[in-house]
Amino acid sequence: MTDLNTLETEILAAIGAAGDEAALDAVRVGALGKKGSISERMKTLGGMSAEERQVMGPALNGLKNAVGDAIAARKQVLKRAAIEQRLATEKVDVTLPVRLSPAEAGRIHPISQVVDEITAIFSDMGFSIAEGPDIETDYYNFTALNFPEGHPAREMHDTFFFNEKEDGERMLLRTHTSPVQIRTMEAQKPPIRIVIPGKTYRCDSDATHSPMFHQLEGLVVDKAANVANMKWVLEEFCKAFFEVPSLNMRFRPSFFPFTEPSLEVDIQCDRSGSEVKFGEGSDWMEILGCGMVHPNVLRSGGLDPDEYQGFAWGIGIDRIAMLKYGMPDLRAFFDADARWISHYGFRPLDLPTLFGGLSG
Ligand code: DAH
Repeated sequence: MTDLNTLETEILAAIGAAGDEAALDAVRVGALGKKGSISERMKTLGGMSAEERQVMGPALNGLKNAVGDAIAARKQVLKRAAIEQRLATEKVDVTLPVRLSPAEAGRIHPISQVVDEITAIFSDMGFSIAEGPDIETDYYNFTALNFPEGHPAREMHDTFFFNEKEDGERMLLRTHTSPVQIRTMEAQKPPIRIVIPGKTYRCDSDATHSPMFHQLEGLVVDKAANVANMKWVLEEFCKAFFEVPSLNMRFRPSFFPFTEPSLEVDIQCDRSGSEVKFGEGSDWMEILGCGMVHPNVLRSGGLDPDEYQGFAWGIGIDRIAMLKYGMPDLRAFFDADARWISHYGFRPLDLPTLFGGLSG
């Protein structure tokens, strides 16, 4: 009997010392498992005399029950302690402000916003969007656009060239979106009404120039496209983009190899305040280049200049974005500064539309 008392004391102490459910289970197996200390003693009952068994039977059963109860009780204590510990570590501070959802906190970059605005305006006028590759051949970027070999206008583009290929050809990063004019004429028959937003590259960098920048090209080719149509399209675009009811424009003669005549367009503005205002005032600001598509360019596109004529224009997207939204430094566009984007960026679900408003 003293043996059983010692055993009971030992087992109960082990139960009390078990720090988690795994340790407690090890104690249970050690006592009540198939080869446990209590189970082994139970097996000896069969070999005992009847008198002995009458004493030892209830004593062992009592021990078994006491150990079973102690284990169950300890299990409860450990469970509760585990829950309390979890609650302590996973405490939620309900006074903290709720973090905004990504749709609320995220911001659309002003360039993407402006491209969406431009797309909305030109889609409404019946234009489609076209795109072309950033890595171009000399042919599409220059030759097909009527830049003769060795013409000084090629040098004005500060082109990034790739290394020569085995056949001597040098690919380049397109210096303007105009090559997509040729690619479009090759791919589809007139009437053509497209705008081409895209990245363009020139070896140039300061507060108003970035080696990678964005342009918007426009091209209309039809049997009777003329300067008056072009003027109307550009005027409607500028009014819609700058969100003003009327706007004076000034067309000045210029030169581009791919247009004849070539024109540069200034829009009326007021620079007297801290920000430039459009649609009023007595100042002018140059905003785009345009012209009637040169017969050689139509020929490069596989079209007969006696049958078709067209007009085209090119606008710096970054520049009109800076003008519209009062952003002073072009380089900030490409700095990926989260504070800048949260200040100048646009809410992702406020899609620019003509009926809902462009800039929200
Ligand atoms: N490609 C010209 C540039 O990057 C911009 C341009 C001017 C495009 C006149 C045109 C155009 O289509 O007609 O400087």
